[in-house]
Amino acid sequence: MSACALLLVPVSPQACGGNEMAPTGTERFQPMMYGDYPKLPQLSELGRALFSDPSLSASGRMSCASCHDPAHAYGPPNGLPTQPGGPSMNRMGFRNTPSLTYLHAPLPFTEHFLESQVTIGQDDEGPTGGRTWDGRVDGGAQQAMMPLIDPNEMANADLREVGERVRRSPEAALFRTIVSAPGRDVFDDTQAAGEWAAVALATFEQSRNDFHPFTSKFDFWLIGEVDLTPQEERGFDLFNNPQKGNCASCHPDGHKSAAARPPLFTDFGYSTIGVPRNRTLDANRDPNFHDLGLCGPLRMDLANRAEYCGAFRTPSLRNVALRQAFFHNGAIHSLRDAVAFYARRDTDPAEWYPRGKDGEVKVFDDLPKAYWVNIERGVPFEPLRDGRPRLNDADVDAIVAFLRTLTDGYVIPGHEPPA
Ligand code: HEC
Ligand code: HEC
Repeated sequence: MSACALLLVPVSPQACGGNEMAPTGTERFQPMMYGDYPKLPQLSELGRALFSDPSLSASGRMSCASCHDPAHAYGPPNGLPTQPGGPSMNRMGFRNTPSLTYLHAPLPFTEHFLESQVTIGQDDEGPTGGRTWDGRVDGGAQQAMMPLIDPNEMANADLREVGERVRRSPEAALFRTIVSAPGRDVFDDTQAAGEWAAVALATFEQSRNDFHPFTSKFDFWLIGEVDLTPQEERGFDLFNNPQKGNCASCHPDGHKSAAARPPLFTDFGYSTIGVPRNRTLDANRDPNFHDLGLCGPLRMDLANRAEYCGAFRTPSLRNVALRQAFFHNGAIHSLRDAVAFYARRDTDPAEWYPRGKDGEVKVFDDLPKAYWVNIERGVPFEPLRDGRPRLNDADVDAIVAFLRTLTDGYVIPGHEPPA
């Protein structure tokens, strides 16, 4: 498959040429001579260099890695709800930075995902797939173009400006060698150079060792190479139990079977779970501003679909323990609180939502009342008959312990690499 078909990017046909590309990671990276077509390993190495190059931003201080830190599973390096960016590094978006791990096989966004693909009409799972918290973009390269020209992020005026910056970057010589068409200099067309930068970034994001290594303790447990502690194993059971955590209903974890493909801990579906408003976000100073996910304001094609308002894409929970800000708006600041929110949102709302002047707890304070019908009310939110939460403190701790087994780079005791 050609890079163009693979990445769904509108690069010029002559630059694509319909050439076959070698699969990622199978060859040692070696720059080809001027005039050859790029191979995926070359694009990937180019993408790796561009990913952490701040000279591609208007401020000269922000790269993809500023928000997507390789040391934090390509998620945010700190507990800020959003990372400041823009030309003077003082502008703020309103969404939390997702991890870029385990996004290697994204489903394109669809409003009607059929689980079996056979019994049409009977198993419609609703909106599924796409990239970002609202699924408004499918292709990896199109996605990479967004932060490059977002005024709150890398803040280029357009892709020509991106291409121009690449021309002046430390990667310029390599870039020219790898992506110029025969007899041409890619920088003669700065728009094409900007597009190729996005293709290279998206190719890098597919590289297995960096983005989907499957090297967590959980993965070694699946193939029987290590035991979970009793607490971790109890957490796994609670995570699966449909009457307790019921987490796996949205964050599927497969079965304890090496035969099945290792699970991704997301079904890429959309749900409205009523995360509290993050009052530290600039955008939220306006009481009438609401980030409603699927129904806007960043995607507008579903703006008139009230049933989608408040729904965000379910993130993978792999590497979630490396985060310090949780959910689409970063309103929650510890993994333990993120799990406890599911247990006690409806039993102890005052823990999560502010009180109004009248002393009443303002539940679901980030969602206009008209959309409250969309909020998930079932297990794990639904209290027990006696009003207690389904998960007690020890249960929450066990689930957290289990989630900590999902961090990549686990070393089996006794198998440490030589120092
Ligand atoms: C200022 C911080 C920031 C910078 C810089 C940044 N991103 Fe992001 N990234 C985000 C946020 C926030 C989102 C979620 C956006 C949304 O949901 O609307 C995101 C989403 C993504 C996604 C989609 C992830 C998913 O879950 O589907 C990819 C892929 C991505 N970014 C790649 C990049 C690349 C490549 C660069 C550099 C060209 C980059 N990002 C620069 C903050 C950043
Ligand atoms: C109804 C589907 C559903 C169920 C059930 C569910 N989740 Fe989630 N989960 C989501 C969605 C959707 C989000 C993102 C919501 C948002 O940001 O508005 C999310 C986000 C999270 C996050 C934050 C991840 C991040 O990157 O910020 C954690 C942690 C989490 N879930 C853990 C759990 C645990 C533990 C359980 C079981 C106790 C659970 N979830 C049950 C759908 C679900």
